[in-house]
Amino acid sequence: MNELLDHLKKRIAAEGPLSVADYMAEALANPKHGYYMTGDPLGKAGDFITAPEISQMFGELIGLWCAVAWQQMGSPEQIKLIEIGPGRGTLMADALRALPMVPEFLAAIEIHLIETSPSLQKRQQRNLASLDANIVWHEGFADVPEGPFILFANELFDALPIRQFEKSVAGWGERKVGCDDAGDLIWLLDQSAAIPPAFIPPKLADAPPGSIAEFCQMGVTLTTAIAESIAEFGGAALFIDYGHDQSSIGDTLQAVKDHQFHDVLLDPGDADLTAHVDFERLAESARGAGASAFGAITQADFLRRLGIEQRAQQLRDAASTRQKTEIISSLNRLIGADEMGTLFKVLAITHPDQPIPEGFSG
Ligand SMILES: C[S@@+](CC[C@H](N)C(=O)[O-])C[C@H]1O[C@@H](n2cnc3c(N)ncnc32)[C@H](O)[C@@H]1O
Repeated sequence: MNELLDHLKKRIAAEGPLSVADYMAEALANPKHGYYMTGDPLGKAGDFITAPEISQMFGELIGLWCAVAWQQMGSPEQIKLIEIGPGRGTLMADALRALPMVPEFLAAIEIHLIETSPSLQKRQQRNLASLDANIVWHEGFADVPEGPFILFANELFDALPIRQFEKSVAGWGERKVGCDDAGDLIWLLDQSAAIPPAFIPPKLADAPPGSIAEFCQMGVTLTTAIAESIAEFGGAALFIDYGHDQSSIGDTLQAVKDHQFHDVLLDPGDADLTAHVDFERLAESARGAGASAFGAITQADFLRRLGIEQRAQQLRDAASTRQKTEIISSLNRLIGADEMGTLFKVLAITHPDQPIPEGFSG
């Protein structure tokens, strides 16, 4: 018996149907049985693979982007380098390995990792130990001491809980998760749920019956906090995730297990649950907090402008025949239009007095 399923059924019996956000939060972050709390789902042997796990080129270019952002800030003597949701720590490790090219930046940084999963925190500690860097771990962004920072997050926002709203002939209702007489989890539409008007963008309010709109409160709150801090102290943030550059209609909630799509309501806690990121909302939140926002642009455009093709060529020049094939295949996975290149987007947030960040246009 899936113990989380048992807990969810008891919770639904006591409180009534759960919002999609409550269901996602339980499935991903329940302290005992949540998907990210219990193991390491990343990589070929896990349920899915992320860009830094595909190739070192991804992290190296993010590291150099951070160094340029630091120079654009006037090269302050001390700066925090923050990553949220570091997974196995591969992205930070690759970013740091590229930084000896900019030794003054390497000397200026103090590293802060924000990770909610105790098991992944341990994995990060093991993976980053050999780098001999001074790293501080936190459970939330609010725990990081105040001051200027450069921050990045890859595939974090798609894991933050969303609420879903469905339009019927009676108007907007909230999609919820209930339980039927046979004890199976089922979808319900709560037509009497209170929906704050800000949760559905005005341009989507008149969508036809059957439409689904999504809202990620945690993503908006986190972006606002990061942008407020950048507006006050200076800095830059880079969010990379799969999602849309414009708010739009659609059910994007999906479960993945063993690299295959899975039923969202089956095996809570044993399958990854994600939703597409609404980058337009995040950009609006950042601007509303007094920062500048750039993008979202596609991952392919971003990585090409940062020079990923030249870096791949450099690696190929020094590689064996087998390695050459792997480098070409990794490059294609990162920037190919039918791979991660178009679906994944990149948003940058900076202080309004700083120049346009590398890879973006005004
Ligand atoms: C899909 S993994 C991505 C890992 C890594 N960034 C990569 O690209 O390989 C999501 C990461 O975010 C972490 N995470 C999920 N929710 C979080 C939250 N609210 N705050 C901080 N980290 C979180 C997970 O534990 C995991 O490390």
